[in-house]
Amino acid sequence: KNIMIINGPNLNLLGKREPGIYGSLSFTEFLETLKDKYPNIGITHYQSNVEGELINALQEAGFGAYDGIVLNAAAYTHTSVGIGDAVAAIETPVVEVHISNTFSREDFRHQSYVSPNAKGVIVGFGLQSYELAIQSFL
Ligand code: DQA
Repeated sequence: KNIMIINGPNLNLLGKREPGIYGSLSFTEFLETLKDKYPNIGITHYQSNVEGELINALQEAGFGAYDGIVLNAAAYTHTSVGIGDAVAAIETPVVEVHISNTFSREDFRHQSYVSPNAKGVIVGFGLQSYELAIQSFL
């Protein structure tokens, strides 16, 4: 299987960004352990802080190249009609993930433009949210 992980804004700062909420591991370190644990799965990772670049990445990944997309659109989850529309437009199933439990945080994090068109949503399990999302495609 081939899985694409797409991470949105500020997730490049994982490890040093609000570690009490997001943990102290960088995504690069986490990704290495994930690839070691699942050697037979092709895991590709893309991160951008730019909304349109995330839409481009969804379009490029969304027609045949991957079996599934794991999307943490981060703050754009709560604001971006364009990312929501891209998830609806593509063929590849998208599982939405969040590291923190967005429902136990501010009200503005309870809204998601991704969820209505996601195959499923995994929220609040720390970086394990990504692993659970990958398992959902196996
Ligand atoms: C997040 C939750 C979002 O509300 C926040 O803006 C993020 C990260 C998470 O993974 O917990 O940047 O998507």
